[in-house]
Amino acid sequence: MRIKALLAAFAVLAGLGAGGVRAQPPIVIKFSHVVAPDTPKGQAAERFRVLAEQLTHGRVRVEVYPNSQLYKDKEELEALQLGAVQMLAPSLAKFAPLGVKEFEAFDLPYVFPTKAALYAVTEGPIGKSLLQKLESKGITGLAYWDNGFKVMSANRPLHTPADFRGLRMRIQGSKVLEAQMRALGAIPEVLAFSDVYPALQAHIVDGTENPPSNMYTQKMHDVQKYVTVSNHGYLGYAVIVNKKFWDGLPRDIREELEQAMREATAFEKTIAQRDNDAALEAIRKTGKTKIHTLTPQEQAEWRQVLLPVQKQVEGRIGKDLIDAINRTTARVTAPMTARAW
Ligand code: LMR
Repeated sequence: MRIKALLAAFAVLAGLGAGGVRAQPPIVIKFSHVVAPDTPKGQAAERFRVLAEQLTHGRVRVEVYPNSQLYKDKEELEALQLGAVQMLAPSLAKFAPLGVKEFEAFDLPYVFPTKAALYAVTEGPIGKSLLQKLESKGITGLAYWDNGFKVMSANRPLHTPADFRGLRMRIQGSKVLEAQMRALGAIPEVLAFSDVYPALQAHIVDGTENPPSNMYTQKMHDVQKYVTVSNHGYLGYAVIVNKKFWDGLPRDIREELEQAMREATAFEKTIAQRDNDAALEAIRKTGKTKIHTLTPQEQAEWRQVLLPVQKQVEGRIGKDLIDAINRTTARVTAPMTARAW
């Protein structure tokens, strides 16, 4: 008995697994992102971590680094390409530096009338073909994660496009968002997400846009007196992995991670709208920010000013892609509109 116990102790000390086989150290996936843990993306990253470690029986360890802890917006893309991190979930507005500016189609104002229309794009051939474009950049696109439709905020009421005149509005690094703000008469200022709160606090910028979940978790209601529920644009993500790392994984582990990603993506889809609705209500409850929902008349004025952005950016994104997205969303919403009559 003593011999067996001594052998078992030796095995543990020598890092051997059951039966004396050397236990491999876990494969580590560093998953970096820029938002708070209690956002749809933050919760989905955590859910992926748990599922990945479970389904691979500990052969993979996922380390999630939220809130720009490891890298800010631009640095994280460079870190991924260098293999310093293995996984990210950047906003679709941030893929131009990777050489795939077509993702900025997701930034087009009013391009998705409903979430169902958005899913028809991301879960259909258009979404697939966009992810495919990442392969030649050394990146594999694994999934789309949802956040929500954006609201606008500033320290003055934003009811009509004229209210934006001269405002310095923070945007993500997207030429479509630049065109959007200029169409409103505002001055677009690109800032990393982690720099938005301090820039608003110091009045370096006057306002910004984001889904409510991002505004609330970054406490932007502390430094923004007015929020307008405009739902003028969409903010979503592509979950991406370093291609060399991904292709180098043992096939069975890659398949287990794909399953973990499918389940985490399904989970994320169920919480995105709920969390954004809750965040807007939480902002309202703070009493620090006045919330205005655009009237149909105001909505019509915004659309009149913003819809021409599609034409302005055709040369950058591709008219064919924009037309394909509009055809897809029309197919999904037409029956609903027909029923409405
Ligand atoms: C932003 O920069 O506003 C967003 O992309 C942050 C995020 O990842 O949701």
